[in-house]
Amino acid sequence: MEINLKNTTEKIVIIGGSGNGTVIASTIEDCKDDGQNIECIGFLNDIEKEINGYPVLGGIRNMDWKKLPKEYKFIYAMSSVKKSADRYQLLLDLNIPIERFATVIHPSSIVSKKSKIGTGVALMPLTLVSPNAIIGNHSHMLAQSFIGHHAEIGEMVFVANNASIGGFIKIKNGAHIGSNSTTIEHISIGEYSIIGLGSVVLKDIKDYETVVGNPARVIGSLK
Ligand SMILES: CC(C)(COP(=O)(O)OP(=O)(O)OC[C@H]1O[C@@H](n2cnc3c(N)ncnc32)[C@H](O)[C@@H]1OP(=O)(O)O)[C@@H](O)C(=O)NCCC(=O)NCCS
Repeated sequence: MEINLKNTTEKIVIIGGSGNGTVIASTIEDCKDDGQNIECIGFLNDIEKEINGYPVLGGIRNMDWKKLPKEYKFIYAMSSVKKSADRYQLLLDLNIPIERFATVIHPSSIVSKKSKIGTGVALMPLTLVSPNAIIGNHSHMLAQSFIGHHAEIGEMVFVANNASIGGFIKIKNGAHIGSNSTTIEHISIGEYSIIGLGSVVLKDIKDYETVVGNPARVIGSLK
C-alpha cells in the first residue's frame, strides 16, 4: 500500500472530468485534511477550463502531461461503463510511465496489511480491502465497496459504490461492477464485462458480457 508519508507534498493531476474526477478530487481533499502529504492541483481535460474550482492544466489527447513538471503525479479518472476498453486504450496510448501515477486511499478506508494495492488506484470513502486481495493498477473502488479476501482485481476495474466482491474472485481488466451488486466467491468476471446495478452474480461472466438481475442473467455483449 502506498500512502505518501514523505515531507514533500505530492501534487496530483487528475486525468478526467467532472464525473469520476471530482469524486477523486474530493477524496484527495479528505486525505490532505487528514494529514497525508498530497493535494490535487488540477485536471487534464480536453474540453473544460476549470473543474470544481481546480484549473485545467492542459489537454489529454494532445499529450499535455509531458509539459508538466516531472514531480507531478497523475491519476486516471475517465471510467465509462460501456467504453471501458476504449478508455483503457487511451490510457495506454498516453504512454505515461507507471511511476508517474499516484495511489489515493481515503482515510476512512480499511486496507489489510496483507493486501496488495497497485499504482494509480483510488480507494474511496469506507472501502474495505480484505487480506490477500490484490488490486491492479488504475482500478477504482467506490464508496463503501467491499473486496473479499484473496480477490484478484485486474487493471482499470471499476467497482461502484456498495458493491460486494466475494473472496477468491478473479476480475479481469476493465470490468465494471455495478452499484450494490454482489458476486459470490470463487468465480471469474471477464474483461470489459458489465455487472448491472444490484445484480447478484453466481457464476462466471465471460469477457465483454453484460449481466443484470438476481440471479444475474446475460443481456448482451459489447463484443
Ligand atoms: C447493465 C446496464 C449497463 C445496462 O444498460 P443498457 O445496456 O443501456 O440496458 P437497458 O437499460 O436497455 O436495459 C436492458 C434490459 O435490462 C434491464 N436492466 C438493465 N439494468 C438492469 C439492472 N441493473 N437490473 C435488472 N434489470 C436491468 C432493463 O430493464 C431492460 O429490460 P427489458 O429489455 O425487459 O426492458 C445498466 O443498466 C447498469 O446497471 N449500469 C451500471 C451503472 C452503475 O454501476 N453505475 C455506478 C456509477 S458510480
